Amino acid sequence: MAEKFIYEAEVLANEEIAPHIMKMTMSAPDASDVALPGQFINVYPKSDKLILPRPISICDADVEEGTLVIVYDVIGAGTDELSRMTRGDIIKISSPLGNGFPAPAVPGAPVLLVGGGVGTAPMLFLAKRLAAQGSRITAVTGFRKDPFLTEELRHADCRTLVTTDMPNEHSFVGNVVDCIEINQIEPGDDWTCYACGPRPMLKSLYGYISSMNEKTTVFVSLEERMGCGYGACVGCVTDIRTGKDIEGNDIIKKYKVCKDGPVFNGKAVVW
Ligand code: FES
Repeated sequence: MAEKFIYEAEVLANEEIAPHIMKMTMSAPDASDVALPGQFINVYPKSDKLILPRPISICDADVEEGTLVIVYDVIGAGTDELSRMTRGDIIKISSPLGNGFPAPAVPGAPVLLVGGGVGTAPMLFLAKRLAAQGSRITAVTGFRKDPFLTEELRHADCRTLVTTDMPNEHSFVGNVVDCIEINQIEPGDDWTCYACGPRPMLKSLYGYISSMNEKTTVFVSLEERMGCGYGACVGCVTDIRTGKDIEGNDIIKKYKVCKDGPVFNGKAVVW
């Protein structure tokens, strides 16, 4: 199996927006045209020592400008190499990969976006697209200490709440579930919640939302460890419920997060 959509993109900007968090804007007209919120790109390192591509969520795509934006955590050799790129550098990417977020369960009904750390990046892309369709959006964002992308979310017309693990003058200290609870956000039957972040956060969020209202639709984007990023290596499998057998037991199958996801209905995920 080979990747189909490989492009050479030109770096337009690459800046640190919080400690160890970088935002890169690249010119990639063919890729920006078709990108959807929830999809990701593979970035290929230049160094021969680094074989595997780095999967990174799409934070924004501007069709008119022909640009893609990614926000990434500098946590290893691959992202360190990426962080040192400057305007005019060329990087090899494949895009778009994975399946994006489905449309809200009920058009026009309120939407709750929840992002943890760099999981906030796809929420910004989704917020912009949903706001353009007239959705009423509340965004709950969680960070270790230094928030990022929150002003952009406000700019996209989202009521934006910020939580951090460590005290910060602009945020509430706690996790995203605490923040939802303390702000008395009560999801209705017709609401759709979209979330991206570390799996423990998604698990507790899904548990909380479904305990508040089991009719609320919850879509989660899983941040599984990946190898190839396009379905060839089986390095990213997760258990997904696909239905019931005749005795009423769950049928559970292995799905590839990179190819079958990364977005799944929270109800189907075996937490
Ligand atoms: Fe290789 Fe998903 S990362 S199959």
